Amino acid sequence: MSAGLAESATGRMALALTVNGRLHRVEAEPRSHLGDVLREGLNLTGTHLGCEHGVCGACTVLLDGEPARACLTFAGACAGAAVTTVEGLDEDEVAAELRAAFNREHALQCGYCTPGMLVAARDLVLRLPEADERRVRVGLSGNLCRCTGYAGIVRAVTGVIAARRARGIGPEAGAARPLGPVGARLGEAAAASRPPATPARAAAPAAVSDLAGDFAPAHRFAQAIDLAHPPEAVFALLNDIEAVAACLPGAVLAGRPEADTVEGGLQVRIGPIRATFRGRARIARDEAGLSGRVRGAGSDAGGRSATEGEIRYRVSPGPAPGTARVDLDVGYTLTGPLAQFGRPGLVRDLAGRIAAEFARTLDARLSGAVGPAPAALDPFRLALGLLRARLAAWRGRA
Ligand code: FES
Ligand code: FES
Repeated sequence: MSAGLAESATGRMALALTVNGRLHRVEAEPRSHLGDVLREGLNLTGTHLGCEHGVCGACTVLLDGEPARACLTFAGACAGAAVTTVEGLDEDEVAAELRAAFNREHALQCGYCTPGMLVAARDLVLRLPEADERRVRVGLSGNLCRCTGYAGIVRAVTGVIAARRARGIGPEAGAARPLGPVGARLGEAAAASRPPATPARAAAPAAVSDLAGDFAPAHRFAQAIDLAHPPEAVFALLNDIEAVAACLPGAVLAGRPEADTVEGGLQVRIGPIRATFRGRARIARDEAGLSGRVRGAGSDAGGRSATEGEIRYRVSPGPAPGTARVDLDVGYTLTGPLAQFGRPGLVRDLAGRIAAEFARTLDARLSGAVGPAPAALDPFRLALGLLRARLAAWRGRA
């Protein structure tokens, strides 16, 4: 256990956190995220929680000077780090200029997004060389606002940057750090600031032999899909890898699959973060039991995030005659920057969306209709829905 952490008899951790320049001692569950500890342990309620899935940006704070999602950061991982919340920016010169500009430009209405927006905007003001509207929009793309339409926010931020540059205040040293929160290393600006990246197609997929050993996933969940077609027909379609890939949002195949091995990728978009995982999977089927197992491993184009997973599936008769139920047991491990988006709650929500889309297109194929392939997986709408629900609940309590 690292310095600054101690486990109590109740299983809670005694945490020593430096927040806004002051050392605090709080107790928290090992699984507590920083947002909860700030709000409930330290009463710093300026940090808002919207989606709690890493997409809306309402919870953005500074971790050692870099914007980070408090809802995705374990409080226990912050021992020894300097945490700055919006309250800690009261006396900050840039934040003061931004607050005045937000007022002037009507850049807030309900204000729910504003603390996270200010923290992210301050980072842009410090680092962008000039008031480039497109780069401001890209830099703020990880912070969602349901009220303003963003125009006032963008005007406020570009105005502060332009005014500071006109006063001869340049960007900070180290401003070349990619825009966006911790983990947003795969965005457009990040790519532009790196040496020419290895094309995604050239990234080496995981070796099939790597998939032969034991696999103990970090997370597991179960999912079921009901289809209005006989189990045998559903199982036969699941044996057709190309058809399955065509039904799976964001899936692309690299060449023709072999009988038990497939190579391809999965495109994922999460707020400002976009990644294409490429890899290989091995497939084993039990024709008599109408079941199978798919085991795969892959990494993103830069090789910074990697995933390994296993899906076990079984097709059985559904609740009504002539229908089928597909039970899925999914285990996965996600490492690297994108692991902050691998929280079980988020993955289960995404799996639910993928399963619903998969079932819809699978059903269309079984019915003889071959529609367009579903688009890349984009949980933006899911997060926005969650944020709307939170705001509605919050307003109801106010
Ligand atoms: Fe953290 Fe939405 S609450 S990103
Ligand atoms: Fe941005 Fe309301 S002002 S969510």
